[in-house]
Amino acid sequence: MTLAPPEAAGPADYAAALDAILAQVTPILGQGRVADYIPELARVRPDQFGMAIVGLDGQVFEIGAARQPFSIQSISKLFALILALTAEGDALWTRVGREPSGSAFNSLVQLEYEHGKPRNPFINAGALVITDILCQRFAVPANAVLEFLRKLSANPGLNLDRHMALSELGCSDRNAAMAHLMKSFGNLHSPVPAVLDAYCGQCAIEMSCVDLARAMTLLANHGCVAATGERVLGVSPTKRLNALMLTCGTYDAAGDFAFRVGLPAKSGVGGGIVALIPGECGICVWSPALEVSGNSLAGSLALEALTSLTQKSIF
Ligand code: DON
Repeated sequence: MTLAPPEAAGPADYAAALDAILAQVTPILGQGRVADYIPELARVRPDQFGMAIVGLDGQVFEIGAARQPFSIQSISKLFALILALTAEGDALWTRVGREPSGSAFNSLVQLEYEHGKPRNPFINAGALVITDILCQRFAVPANAVLEFLRKLSANPGLNLDRHMALSELGCSDRNAAMAHLMKSFGNLHSPVPAVLDAYCGQCAIEMSCVDLARAMTLLANHGCVAATGERVLGVSPTKRLNALMLTCGTYDAAGDFAFRVGLPAKSGVGGGIVALIPGECGICVWSPALEVSGNSLAGSLALEALTSLTQKSIF
């Protein structure tokens, strides 16, 4: 299917693209596997699908279960990082790197030979350092992330699922191992249980595709809340965050994802992927069945189809 040429792509094209994407992904919905290492996530029906695009002018395009709240999981790492950056600034980069890891999101191996400094803030080890920064700054860090997301999504009704948080806390031996290892290198300051509690809490925040696509307009709008113009992040830190998403946001599949999709994006094992087109829109797709790297299978295909159909990407 061919849509309007790129320079003419606008609202009508997004509506048509979403229809075409749904038709394209429907046959493969349910292929892949839901994350089952967190018991509460294993119960989610794998063949669900929703997608939303929110323009900087607030216009919403949506399809499927775009209003269904789901567990944002690692997508929270992006917003926790923004909060930590606004609190700590560039000093944060002395404790966490900016390179793709080339390993699984929950891998421990690099941490030992790289002296407790995680490769980037989007793998679990890096996110635990970011959560540690939030633990030093906020009495209840997961609530700070939740409040921030309520503001960015203009949805005061957002909440976190305490069953999900407890379900993950009950099986977080691997994250606990990373946290203890980093603490042994002096790169974690708060008590490990406090960091894990805050981290599992922020991962258990529930949002819909529409909520997340709206929140992502911040990064499409060079660091200003699109609806109000309020500046949250500088132009340069926003550019850097978008670059980090492109290189590290989908873990060891980031190279393939950049090749196929060509947009900055961040995934979560709940099946959500957020993305953005600078100067244009925030995007979120959700489908719980994952490929081996932990990214939504149908979600990745949907984003690939979006940039192919509309010919919009950052390249
Ligand atoms: O720490 C974990 O394993 C999960 N709470 C989040 C991992 C995740 O979402 C990785 N993303 N694809």
